[in-house]
Amino acid sequence: MKKKVLAMLLSATMAVAALAGCGSTGGDANGGASTTTTTTDGGSTATSTENTGAGKRVAVAMPTQSSERWINDGANMKAQLEAKGYTVDLQYAEDDVQAQVSQIENMIAAGANCLVIAAIDSGALVNVEDQAKAAGIPIIAYDRLLMDTDAVSYYATFDNKGVGTAIGQYIKDNATKDGNKGLDAVKAAGLKMNIEFLMGSPDDNNALMLYNGLMEVLKPYLDDGTLVCKSGRTSFEDTCILRWSQETAQQNMENYLTGFYSDEKIDIVASAFDGFAYGAKAALEGAGYKVGEDWPLITGQDAELMATKNIIAGSQTMSIYKDTRLLAEKCVTMVEAVVNGAEPEINDREQYNNGKIVVPSYLCTPVAVDKDNYKSIIVDGGYYTEEQLAN
Ligand code: BGC
Repeated sequence: MKKKVLAMLLSATMAVAALAGCGSTGGDANGGASTTTTTTDGGSTATSTENTGAGKRVAVAMPTQSSERWINDGANMKAQLEAKGYTVDLQYAEDDVQAQVSQIENMIAAGANCLVIAAIDSGALVNVEDQAKAAGIPIIAYDRLLMDTDAVSYYATFDNKGVGTAIGQYIKDNATKDGNKGLDAVKAAGLKMNIEFLMGSPDDNNALMLYNGLMEVLKPYLDDGTLVCKSGRTSFEDTCILRWSQETAQQNMENYLTGFYSDEKIDIVASAFDGFAYGAKAALEGAGYKVGEDWPLITGQDAELMATKNIIAGSQTMSIYKDTRLLAEKCVTMVEAVVNGAEPEINDREQYNNGKIVVPSYLCTPVAVDKDNYKSIIVDGGYYTEEQLAN
C-alpha cells in the first residue's frame, strides 16, 4: 500500500514537472528555479510547487510574436509562474502600441495582482501605468525599461550597454582584412574596412544603450579611418529602425549596397538584432554576395534558432545569447517580492533612471556566440538541441 502511494506521488510529481516544462521554449522553462515538493497530509495527498502564487493572478504583456525571442520569454514566464501556482494572463500586442494599451487596461479591469510589461513603446504607457498604480497593482518592467513613470517597482533585463560592447568587442577582435585579424592588426597593416549600422528602435531604451556600448568600442576606429562608413550614417538617429523592423533593415541595406557599394564591398554589418541580420542577409544575397567568398561579418542579438543555424551555415557571424529562462527566473523573484513580500534579486540600483525614478534592476549577463562556442554555450546550456539546429 505504502509503495502504491509512493508510486502515485512520484507520478503526480512528474506530471506536474512535465506540465511546468511543456511550455518550455529554449530549454527548461523552469530554469531550475522552482522545486516541486509533494506532501502527505493526514492520509490525503497533495502535490504543489512552493504554492506561493495560489489564488494570485499575474498579467504578462509582451510586444510581439513576430520574433522568436519574445515567444520564448512569454512561454518561460508562464511556465515558471504557473509552477508556483499563479494564474497567468499572457498577451501579445503584435507591435501595435494601442493594442498593448488596451490589453493592459483589460488586465487591470480583470483584477491582476501584478503586471509584468515588456513594452512596445516604452514611453507610451504612462496613463495606463497610472491607472494600475491607482488600482494598487504593482508593475515590473520586463527586458525593456518603462519610461517616465514612478509606477514601476522593479526591472529585470540584460546588461543592455554590455550587449553593445560585446558586439563591438567581437567586431574589434574578429574583423579580418587580407589575413589581418582584428581591427588593430588591420590598422597596423594600413588597411581599412567598410561598415554599416542597423540599430534598434528609438522608442526602446535598450536600443540607445546598445548603440552607446557599441560606439564605445568602435568610435576610435571610425575616427582614425580604420573603419569607413560610406553611407555616412553612424549616429543613432540616422541608423535606428522603428519597432525593430526586419523589412526596414533589409530596405536600408539594399539602399546602402546600391548607393555606396557598387565599386567596393561592404566588410561589416553591425546589426543590433537577429531580425536585422536576416534582412541584411536577404539584401546581400540579392546583390550577389556569397558566403565563403565576399560575405561580410554580420552581428546580431538574441541567438534565435534561425540565427544560430545561420551562424553554423556562415551567413551570420555572431549573435548575443540571452538566456530567456534566466531572465524569467529573475523576473519571477520580483513578482514574488511585490505579491508576497519576498526579497527580490537586485544587482543594479544606478543605471536605469527612467526620467522619474531609478528603477531597482537585475541585469543578466549577455554572451557573444559564434560558430566556435555555440556548442558549449547554447547546446550544452540546454537552450537548443543539436537536432533542432540540424533541421
Ligand atoms: C531586446 C532585444 C531584442 C529587441 C527586438 C530589445 O528590447 O532587448 O533582445 O532583440 O528588443 O525584439
